[in-house]
Amino acid sequence: MCGIVGYIGDRDATPIILNGLKRLEYRGYDSAGLAVIQDGKIEIRRDAGKLAQLSTLVNDQPVCGHIGIGHTRWATHGAPSARNAHPHLGTTGKVVVVHNGIVENFLELREELADEGVAFNSDTDSEILVHLIERYIGGGNGLVEGVRLALKDIKGAHGLVVMSSDEPDKIVAARIGNAGGVVVGFGEGEMFIASDVPAILEHTRKTIFLESSQMAVLKKDGVAVQTLDGKRVESPIHSISWDPVAAEKGEYRHFMQKEIHEQVRALTDTLAGRVDFEKGQIRLPELNLTPEFSKRVEKIIITACGTAAHAGMVGKTLIERIARIPVEVDIASEFRYREPLVNENTVVLAISQSGETADTLAAMEEARHRGAVVWSIVNAIGSQAMRLADGQISMQTGPEIGVASTKAFTAPLVDLYMLAVLLGELRGTLPAEERRKLVSDLRLIPDLVGKCLNREKEVQQVARAMKDVKNMLYLGRGINMPIAYEGALKLKEISYIHAEAYPAGEMKHGPIALVDQDMPVLAIAPRDPWYEKMLSQIEQAKARGGNVLVVSTEGDERATKLADHTFWVTETPWMLSPVITVVPLQLFAYHIASYRGLDVDQPRNLAKSVTVE
Ligand code: M6R
Repeated sequence: MCGIVGYIGDRDATPIILNGLKRLEYRGYDSAGLAVIQDGKIEIRRDAGKLAQLSTLVNDQPVCGHIGIGHTRWATHGAPSARNAHPHLGTTGKVVVVHNGIVENFLELREELADEGVAFNSDTDSEILVHLIERYIGGGNGLVEGVRLALKDIKGAHGLVVMSSDEPDKIVAARIGNAGGVVVGFGEGEMFIASDVPAILEHTRKTIFLESSQMAVLKKDGVAVQTLDGKRVESPIHSISWDPVAAEKGEYRHFMQKEIHEQVRALTDTLAGRVDFEKGQIRLPELNLTPEFSKRVEKIIITACGTAAHAGMVGKTLIERIARIPVEVDIASEFRYREPLVNENTVVLAISQSGETADTLAAMEEARHRGAVVWSIVNAIGSQAMRLADGQISMQTGPEIGVASTKAFTAPLVDLYMLAVLLGELRGTLPAEERRKLVSDLRLIPDLVGKCLNREKEVQQVARAMKDVKNMLYLGRGINMPIAYEGALKLKEISYIHAEAYPAGEMKHGPIALVDQDMPVLAIAPRDPWYEKMLSQIEQAKARGGNVLVVSTEGDERATKLADHTFWVTETPWMLSPVITVVPLQLFAYHIASYRGLDVDQPRNLAKSVTVE
């Protein structure tokens, strides 16, 4: 997972950057590099592999200066290699960039720049940025203006840090959307910049956090923050607590809130190294999947508990639609006791954030014992579920601390989508054109999640209005039906409000009797293939006096006319829509629990890892 560190001051930047990157090592990465301005010239050291390799390189070819930037990379575009590692240097050799995020329109921009005569030195999307900046520097424009104009050309969510040997008195940083944070640290006659607080904590506790669409210009004696339109901003100064747990929360009140916001980065990392946007293909090497086996699979059983099982329910629709393999979703605690019918052509796919859930492990063992092939999608590296599986997809979310799972829900949704596409290709059920479209859609996801997060204040207002409700009913259909289950589970577990979820079509078979003014109904109704059906369910709830909340696509007036409260989401290709529609529901549950003054991160009676039956 990409990390950024930068320094400007009187000390030698190199060891500060290397130490800062070391503090981010736990996030995982596959290459690392740094750039320092030494005697007026940008010197770069970068390599594939771990920081130890970069340190050896720096020992062999020392570099020393008072301003520098560094990066740990988790490959998205282009293999992990020295040439693809950041920092990326421009054609003039005078501008250098480190970057987190995905440039969504990278193929178009690369073509455009190539037509202008730019030669590329890497396969990355990030290199585009340095060439764009160089395009705009000159003719009176300095580095700040060059960065500002370049950012107008790119789509997606980004965090980036730039320096120029022509202006060695400053570092320019920017944040667009939520591709992870950008934090500025204040020292005495020195300044720091990083993607994450731990990278700079040994030097300072005094920080500011950039908001989306803001830029920071760091000089050794201070920082100026401005919007992308050039308007000056006064950013609040945060004093980071000395308590390591509080320090890790950074700008957020709770881990759950932090982890909801981390989804943009977690999803970017989920795509890293697995999606080839140019060829329109997916690679999942840890799965050991051959074309022969893909064709032989007769059935997939997804087994999991709680939130992970809800992810599996979305996976059922995806795999059945795209790869045309029948999928069952089995709650792990039930699977093991029902003498499941599996054989060597059955895949039992376990999903688990902790990889230590007793019921899920037992289900995996039962599946193995009965001769099935066992796969896992797991977050905790080295966990039992990872070790028990014949093939696996590791979630790339980083540790999840809040008991209520959030980023470890959306990451497996994307993993399952990628799995469906790969199986579809290998089995020949997915035409190439369609495959390219499905793969291309993935690049939109981090930014679309970021757009939902930008609406947090609106969700918070609804949460304030609803904080005292006693019951809620969540409804969804089709691919968004599991999101109703997930939204209700989030509300139950952290706010202790009774919430039930139903496939909306089931209402008329009983639950509609519950609907009155004391039973708010939350309907998930984005513009997906089940949209019209959802509208009629909303009308029925409204006709019975229900207080209706709707998750709705921006600009959809039909759904909103019926709603008392609306959670807006940006239009999303329907097969990926659950990744987006769940975000307001996570925020809603979080803010309700927060208003109720509850222990959000450690709700009563629950544990992060359920290692008992
Ligand atoms: O670690 P796992 O993903 O296997 O855990 C499964 C469930 O215990 C877990 O998802 C639980 O439902 C969460 N508290 C949901 O937020």
